Amino acid sequence: MTTTVVHAAPTPYGAGIFSNVGGPEAFALAGTPGAVMSRAAADLDDRAATDGRHLLGLEGMTRDELLGLLAAAKRERAWLAQGEPNRTDLAGMTVVLAFIEDSTRTRTSFEIAAQRLGANVVVFSSAASSLNKGETLLDTVRLFEAMGSALVVVRHPSSGAPVWLARQLDRMGVINAGDGMHEHPTQGLLDLLTLQDAWEGRFEGRRLAIVGDIGHSRVARSAIAGLTTLGARVTVCGPATLLPAEVELLGCDVADNIEDALAGADAAMALRLQNERMEKGLLPSSGEYARVWGLSPERLTLLAPHAVVLHPGPVNRGVELAHEVADGLRARILAQVANGVAVRCAVLRRCADATRRPHGFTSDVAAR
Ligand code: CP
Repeated sequence: MTTTVVHAAPTPYGAGIFSNVGGPEAFALAGTPGAVMSRAAADLDDRAATDGRHLLGLEGMTRDELLGLLAAAKRERAWLAQGEPNRTDLAGMTVVLAFIEDSTRTRTSFEIAAQRLGANVVVFSSAASSLNKGETLLDTVRLFEAMGSALVVVRHPSSGAPVWLARQLDRMGVINAGDGMHEHPTQGLLDLLTLQDAWEGRFEGRRLAIVGDIGHSRVARSAIAGLTTLGARVTVCGPATLLPAEVELLGCDVADNIEDALAGADAAMALRLQNERMEKGLLPSSGEYARVWGLSPERLTLLAPHAVVLHPGPVNRGVELAHEVADGLRARILAQVANGVAVRCAVLRRCADATRRPHGFTSDVAAR
């Protein structure tokens, strides 16, 4: 087991990375959240979405598939808790972590998970790479495939980038680590696992309230897809400028204000407020947001007595969550992070099993 850090610095987004692939496939989606939803849903209908070597989104996964992954994650969690030496499940396999957008939790936990399963791990980001010389994302990822990598974990600011890559690759599996406003499926799975624990294993009849920037949130989209498939209800609320048109089509309810959303809910999830939304005039100020949409200790009293509080991180303390809420008894933020390693172990194993082939240059690729 080794880890190679190619680079880990902030990356300029957009042109020259994904959009320069050209043609109809080059959909660096910058339109409305509604447009993103319909395009993403269409993409997940294709063959790549059902190929076991990829994990592209929770939308379209069956109840059995979701529960199977949660059960596998629980087994991984029990094993991780024992502090045993690394396993050999992924021995001889190379996993590339291609983060074309900043990350702390997702990248670190994928790296830990892959190492614990015995993989060779390469951490790649675009800074100081040939992406900055105009090489396309697809050509870059094809290099990893030609070098014998089995899996690539992709975070990208453009919705649809992992789906698009998965369609092009012959052998390598693609795991979506968050793509634009589309999905963040491993975050969705760790949220499901955290809620499964809090809800004593039962999703039916439970309700999660999601508060904040629903329109731009891949975390919300994966949570809604997973929870509605498992029989739970989701209520969303947030500033009108940050709610996508026809959000109900995702299968959730919409509340006009945070009090209505929280009343009697079995859990609340606050979404991260991105500063660029204020810069674009979609919100007045972080102080105003905290006043109208922040989770305060007073507002938590509206929840069901057993309810827990989730946040995908990174948290803007004092904005989405009051300090007392972030550090309070109901918060499950660090449980979400811990569950993230177990979920990523389960996902890596699932995708690796479907991808398995010898490490090294494959003869057909080398012969091209
Ligand atoms: N929740 C999440 O995706 O966090 P990072 O951006 O730190 O990976």
